[in-house]
Amino acid sequence: MELLTKMSHYMDRETPFYHYDLDLLSRTLDAMLSASSGYGFHVHYALKANSNREILERISAKGLGADCVSGNEITRAIETGFKKEDIAFAGVGKTDVEIKTGIENDIFSFNAESMQELEVINEIARAMGKKAPIALRINPNVNAKTHQYITTGLEENKFGINSWEFETVLEKLENLKNLELKGLHFHIGSQITDMSVFKGLCIRINEIQKWFVEHRIIAEHINVGGGLGVNYDHPDEKLIPDFDEFFKIFHDHLELYPNQELHFELGRALVAQCGNLITRVLYIKNGVNVDFAIVDAGMTELIRPALYESIHRIDKISVTENSVEKKYDVVGPICESSDCFAKSIILPELKRGDLLAIRSAGAYGEVMSSGYNLRSKVKTYYSER
Ligand code: LLP
Repeated sequence: MELLTKMSHYMDRETPFYHYDLDLLSRTLDAMLSASSGYGFHVHYALKANSNREILERISAKGLGADCVSGNEITRAIETGFKKEDIAFAGVGKTDVEIKTGIENDIFSFNAESMQELEVINEIARAMGKKAPIALRINPNVNAKTHQYITTGLEENKFGINSWEFETVLEKLENLKNLELKGLHFHIGSQITDMSVFKGLCIRINEIQKWFVEHRIIAEHINVGGGLGVNYDHPDEKLIPDFDEFFKIFHDHLELYPNQELHFELGRALVAQCGNLITRVLYIKNGVNVDFAIVDAGMTELIRPALYESIHRIDKISVTENSVEKKYDVVGPICESSDCFAKSIILPELKRGDLLAIRSAGAYGEVMSSGYNLRSKVKTYYSER
């Protein structure tokens, strides 16, 4: 297994830890850039997926922009080499301090999510004697067909400005002299694997754009957010997502106006597969129908299975002497029944001390780890080749 070779230096390290394959990261970024650059599309990396400095430096070096959701992410993006003028700032609850950070740094755009937020950004920009670039985050009411917790583009969700508010927003903008309307922004959800969803988004954006053009507004840029999913079930079959297919959908179905730029905010698709959480079996305990493999990583290091019942493939990476296979629930040490990485999976027989790789954990893994139970901060190791 390729992973095993890359991991070989780290087999005796204290677990749990994240292992990042920087070579795979680089190949993923190159594949994305080669697919997007032909169309002249601009990609901002969504820092929320993984804001580890090593990873960010690799991504900024490839020339991507950044998509931030907090003042600290803006600061981190700048520190790790992203250009200020390529930073988009999203989020339903930007604080005054965070807005100031964005304005001070002359970022690319504030993706504004409500009428009141527009007023607040205007007021802060006025006090600073500046104009803030704005993209209206629009709720297009398109179903992303993904987990309900990461669906964001339906009217019932808290995100964005709904179509019945457009008229009022434009009236309001007339008087907000310290804002400059630059773009229209959309993000309908994450881990989207049904590509027809993106086609539906394009068609909806075309309708919305028409409304704005009829009201004499042609935005400089359209930002369609992120959301491209990855293969969690069989990562080795598709370590690099199909970026060609993804960008072609937007090229074929989104009607851009002359000189209008198209921007994306990809997170997961760029970093998920390059990270694995490595954990060691502490105990094997016999259960009623399956055995429990109790490992030293828990929901404190990777919360996705507990929070979204998400699937992460688990591979045994210690060498197996015999070929007996058994059924296990792979569980963490935390006192919560949701602290379970996988139920009833078949693995080569496990014993105390065996190493497991919890796969596809490079996105929303390390960043969502916590100190619950006073657990130590999870360590990270990297391989270049
Ligand atoms: N842009 C905006 C405005 C977003 O809210 C997000 C993610 C992205 C871009 C990047 O989306 P991506 O390309 O990574 O799908 N913790 C969850 C995922 C939450 C995603 C939130 N928004 C998980 O572990 O699945």
